[in-house]
Amino acid sequence: MAEILDGKAVAGEVVATVKQAAAELISETGVTPGIAVVIVGKDPASQVYVSSKSRKAKECGFHSVQHELGEDTSEDELLGLIDELNRDDAIHGILVQLPLPDHIDSGRVIQTIAPDKDVDGFHFINVGRLGTGELASAFVPCTPAGSMLLVERVRGTDLSGLSAVVVGRSNIVGKPMAHLLLAANATVTIAHSRTKDLPGLCATADILVAAVGRPEMVKGDWIKPGATVIDVGINRIPAPEKGEGKTRLVGDVAYEEAAAKAGAITPVPGGVGPMTIAMLMANTLVSACRTAGREPPKF
Ligand code: GUN
Repeated sequence: MAEILDGKAVAGEVVATVKQAAAELISETGVTPGIAVVIVGKDPASQVYVSSKSRKAKECGFHSVQHELGEDTSEDELLGLIDELNRDDAIHGILVQLPLPDHIDSGRVIQTIAPDKDVDGFHFINVGRLGTGELASAFVPCTPAGSMLLVERVRGTDLSGLSAVVVGRSNIVGKPMAHLLLAANATVTIAHSRTKDLPGLCATADILVAAVGRPEMVKGDWIKPGATVIDVGINRIPAPEKGEGKTRLVGDVAYEEAAAKAGAITPVPGGVGPMTIAMLMANTLVSACRTAGREPPKF
């Protein structure tokens, strides 16, 4: 049976490091890490994410501001707010929750965020830094950064000689994850919906990352014995066994059958999920340390 990679516990360790480093930064330099979270409209899932980000930031001792804008906010108004936040010395991290309403060009909004406050790691400058292996100066998107910490727990920081398959090619998870694995010397393949013989390819992976958003798509017989399986998916599916209208969360991996073959696996919930917010806190702390000219802690 596989080792269960407890993302909640690892996220707790990251947050503890952030809290301690934030307290030291504040007492020694007077700089309080500051994060601004911006949400446009009333998408219920986004509202839950945003309030948990703001709550965690306060728990870390950060200066945390939340901007809740109406659904009918114009692109110019939003760009104006970002411009203000870019110039606000009390703010070291800016996060604009996605998706944005259809009348707003998300790409334009993201590229307006100052790269050195882009704690989501979505700005082209940070994408380029990651792609060229400039990890010391890049902000890396939070979900892949957190997934990589879980991989390191099992495999260490040097993945030389190991093959990694990332299923999913999104800009937020699949592509940055592939770059992180490559930077750690893994031999990396990105697979997606057009890949031939996906089960056969997955079965070659020492490290398998599933980030497709399809419930339980990756089956037990796709797993190489002893593989490290990182399940990024969070899918809500009907659970009639729990009662009428009830639902449950599952990943992109069929957990029970995969756990029977893997060496280590992340559960859903409680695997990658908790790592995402923890890495947002880590990125914001790193940004504040850079501003204050201090060496940030290693995560
Ligand atoms: N919406 C879903 N995931 C994310 C994320 O990681 N960052 C932002 N800004 N919005 C999201």
